[in-house]
Amino acid sequence: MQKSPKNVIITGANRGIGLALTIQFAKAGYHVLATARKPLQAVKLIELADTDEHNISIFKVDVTNKMSVNNFAKTIIGMPIDILINNAGILDTYNSSIDDIDLVSFAEVLTVNTLSPIRLMRAVMPNLRLGNTKKVANISSFMGSFEGTSTGAHAYRTSKAALNRSMQIFGLELADEGFTVMNLHPGWVQTDMGGPQADIDVTTSATGLLKVIETTKAADAKHIIGYNGKTLSY
Ligand SMILES: NC(=O)c1ccc[n+]([C@@H]2O[C@H](COP(=O)([O-])OP(=O)(O)OC[C@H]3O[C@@H](n4cnc5c(N)ncnc54)[C@H](OP(=O)(O)O)[C@@H]3O)[C@@H](O)[C@H]2O)c1
Repeated sequence: MQKSPKNVIITGANRGIGLALTIQFAKAGYHVLATARKPLQAVKLIELADTDEHNISIFKVDVTNKMSVNNFAKTIIGMPIDILINNAGILDTYNSSIDDIDLVSFAEVLTVNTLSPIRLMRAVMPNLRLGNTKKVANISSFMGSFEGTSTGAHAYRTSKAALNRSMQIFGLELADEGFTVMNLHPGWVQTDMGGPQADIDVTTSATGLLKVIETTKAADAKHIIGYNGKTLSY
């Protein structure tokens, strides 16, 4: 008997690391629930979903919008979800100092990068509880690590540090239910956010992340885990 594919939700699946993760998970035989806030403009994602060899469904989700997230959750009621990948994120600016920091922009970064993964995770908890794998993978960043010595990008670094801590706590709280909650560093990746001068391409990052997501167990999730499997300090 053919086994039904595992279902994985990937946010921000229309470009960058999210699109590359969608390609890799679909190739690996998963059914990808690929979310984008403007799906009609997600040309590459639509092309992928239209090809026969990929198992991709596209959903309109703005992760910052309560109604949008709840509508998505309603659409998938009763569907077991094996993995939730919180990938959507923003970086406002590298140039921020105490003299010119923009707190409105800071709050927006916290909303997208920290609060939205929590909002989505809460909305799809019934689905994750029905899944066999029960994994939540957050595409975080080493830029949020307290070990880091680089400066600037205050809002972004803070948003990822807060995401890591909050998700680490959820991981501890949900361990008895069999959940694995992990905070991942995708590398410095050539995307709109990472820039063309970044270290690695999206395929290298996404293939590494897929392997890490599949193999990480609750007990391993005590650190940020890199796309190459290396552990990095919170
Ligand atoms: N690139 C790197 O070097 C790097 C390093 C460390 C961590 N990361 C993390 O990796 C993740 C992906 O980054 P990336 O480099 O692929 O960035 P990207 O190319 O700028 O793509 C960001 C994605 O997030 C989506 N997004 C932003 N706000 C959203 C919202 N409110 N609702 C739904 N989707 C939203 C974007 O959708 P739209 O197209 O609609 O804007 C886009 O799909 C982020 O969490 C980022 O912090 C990246």
